[in-house]
Amino acid sequence: MLRDKGYEVLINERAKNRAADKEEILAGIKGADAMLATLTDKVDAEIMDAGLSASSGGPTLKIIANMAVGFDNIDLEAAKKRNIIVTNTPGVLTDTVAEHTFALMLAISHRIVEADKFTRAGLYNAWGPMLLLGSDLFGKTLGVVGSGRIGSRMAYYAVKGFGMKVLYTDVKQDESFEREFDTNFFNNIDDLLPKCDYVSLHVPLLESTRHLINENRLKSMKKTAYLINTSRGPVIDEKALARALKEGWIRGAAIDVFENEPKVEPELLRQNNIILTPHIASATEETRNAMAELAAKNIIEALEGRKPPNLIR
Ligand code: DGY
Repeated sequence: MLRDKGYEVLINERAKNRAADKEEILAGIKGADAMLATLTDKVDAEIMDAGLSASSGGPTLKIIANMAVGFDNIDLEAAKKRNIIVTNTPGVLTDTVAEHTFALMLAISHRIVEADKFTRAGLYNAWGPMLLLGSDLFGKTLGVVGSGRIGSRMAYYAVKGFGMKVLYTDVKQDESFEREFDTNFFNNIDDLLPKCDYVSLHVPLLESTRHLINENRLKSMKKTAYLINTSRGPVIDEKALARALKEGWIRGAAIDVFENEPKVEPELLRQNNIILTPHIASATEETRNAMAELAAKNIIEALEGRKPPNLIR
């Protein structure tokens, strides 16, 4: 799309199977009018200044288009000071992320990964009434933490498809969400957690949501509960989660995001009652194409002097 519009496009070919390092970004951004960033690019003031430094005729870097709905990798204050537009890619990944979240929830409660390993290891000798017992979703209570687009989709699948009861918490109450899913609002996550059989996190990473799920909150959950996270890793205190799984404070967890990506807390890797996927909740062919197209569209609109569709600032 960008080349069709006549733009010169520089791609960091070296960063195909790893995140780009800062030196590469600093070198590439000089003289660029736009940056198409991914969530592993930490876009700070230094990078923005490099984007504004190379031209004698005045500023160049006009837009940072993040190919993600989350934008905690971008320093918005620094962008504001430099009058640089920032956009994201909401909407196009909602269903895919909710599907992956549900897949994790089903996989951990029905012990799919464990059962696959068991079968491959040649351990299936006889059918047994107690073999690999899991837990139903039907009739259980799902706590949705964050009732935005993805949280709402989770509520839809849970209520309409799986006969679950949904409870939710958010910074503000949403009456249409309540009417649609016959759900109750909790002003305080501490009141919600002890009531849920499953808890799914759908909040942005902010100072107020960092370690939202900590030791005390994990201890307040039912011992039979499962925790699912496809939002951002630092929303959970991973060391506390590892202890919760090891010591049986909760029954299991399934997470797609990590506190120090791409590193994974070693204690988590040692637990059998957790499923780990490598930040792929939006990774379907259709959705990654849609995200890339939306990021390109945001760039084109901004460079042509129009308001991009997904303006953050
Ligand atoms: C996002 O978009 O923020 C996801 O984490 C990656 O798709």
